[in-house]
Amino acid sequence: MANTLEKIISLSKRRGFIFPSSDIYGGIGGFYDFGPLGVEMKNNIKRIWWKNVVQQRKEVVGLDSSIIMNSKIWEASGHTQHFTDPLCECKKCHKRFRADHLVEKLKTPGKLDEHGTFNQEELKDIAKVIPKIKCPECGGELTPPRQFNLMFKTFIGPVEEETAKTYLRPETAQGIFVNYKNILDTQRVKVPFGIAQVGKAFRNEITPGNFIFRTREFEQMELEYFVKPGEDEKSFDYWVKERMRWYIEDLAITEEKLRIRPHRKDELAHYAKSCVDIEYKFPFGWSEIEGIANRTDFDLKQHQENSGVDLRYFDEPSAGRKQYYIPYVIEPSCGVERIMFALLCDAYQEIKGGRTETTKAAKEVEILLKLDKKLAPIKVAVLPLVKNKPELVKKAKEVFELLKPYFMCQYDEVGSIGRRYRRQDETGTVFCLTLDFESLEQNDLTIRYRDTMKQERVKIKDLIKVLKEKLEN
Ligand code: GLY
Repeated sequence: MANTLEKIISLSKRRGFIFPSSDIYGGIGGFYDFGPLGVEMKNNIKRIWWKNVVQQRKEVVGLDSSIIMNSKIWEASGHTQHFTDPLCECKKCHKRFRADHLVEKLKTPGKLDEHGTFNQEELKDIAKVIPKIKCPECGGELTPPRQFNLMFKTFIGPVEEETAKTYLRPETAQGIFVNYKNILDTQRVKVPFGIAQVGKAFRNEITPGNFIFRTREFEQMELEYFVKPGEDEKSFDYWVKERMRWYIEDLAITEEKLRIRPHRKDELAHYAKSCVDIEYKFPFGWSEIEGIANRTDFDLKQHQENSGVDLRYFDEPSAGRKQYYIPYVIEPSCGVERIMFALLCDAYQEIKGGRTETTKAAKEVEILLKLDKKLAPIKVAVLPLVKNKPELVKKAKEVFELLKPYFMCQYDEVGSIGRRYRRQDETGTVFCLTLDFESLEQNDLTIRYRDTMKQERVKIKDLIKVLKEKLEN
């Protein structure tokens, strides 16, 4: 299990999906860089989300708001006061922990027996539990939990004074709420309508971990969907079903590895009336990849009160009476990196003994990354059968130039053809195109399918059309 995780981390680094940030300086905890294949995959995820959430819905519009905003926004939204996690520190080894995570761990089977003293009811009171447990690293005594704000502080302009202080946004959502009136005033939207945004968010996590699952800088894809009060629960149910459908049908994630988990009252965010998580079964257990929250009219009301700007919506008069209200908000919110991680775990396969003659002979384990074609970073690899035949290399390079404007392609001539197929299979490349001696006479090549290894010959003149059909259907 942990082994699978290590293999995925190793593949990600080895093949240029994900690197630890600031690597040559020893790294920096909770930050990652996305390499040539990683950035392609992230872009694919974002494009598929945007297409489904914005492009295909007439009532949803997009936005790209700034990361740093007026600090009054974070006062109004409640983040300066409530966006905290309980932190405790070991008095001996000085490691810091999220107190709620330590308590949560006690609930895993077998753990409680080690401590013996708690029942489920007692576990709800973190402050009472912490003094009775020890540091999981060194067995030292833990400090009582104190609330730690997760927002990264920064200063605007040259002087680091209180009035210049603000924060890197911990969610993209607030950029949407403070633009709600701009959108209403400039676009022809009517409730129900949505505003969607993709962008970076930052959280100074106490304990980042599980590779790219919990990081301090990440990318969110958020939709704020504004509805008439009273219509909120119906809309909430719609979005939960729709978002599950998206993972299963549009991203082709294994359905059995997805589940819906409603939040308990005690874990709801300060702005939410209800919330469910969509969870994926990672190698380290079921964990959230998306949250869908009913934020009620909390945020718009807070901004109306704090800014003094009227944020009421004027609806069509009903029974001859004017209707003003603050809309309720349903928010599906997910992290690009978590989705990418789930997709890598879902697609990762090992074929013991190998599939090709070369790997079978060497009794090697072959890795196959069975990503959906929409998500695969590279769609097509162009491979001359050998590299010491100049006409063949020239023709293969011409094919690469021909395809480059249409598809994300790679050209590879290094190593045996078997090795090159394996390299492409490892990174999920959908099709390998091989040019052999016959290609020189026939002006054709072989298309090799990643998952079945089936091969078929296609004329070069038909190639763009054939590949478009295969990749788009
Ligand atoms: N906007 C919801 C979240 O950031 O968790």
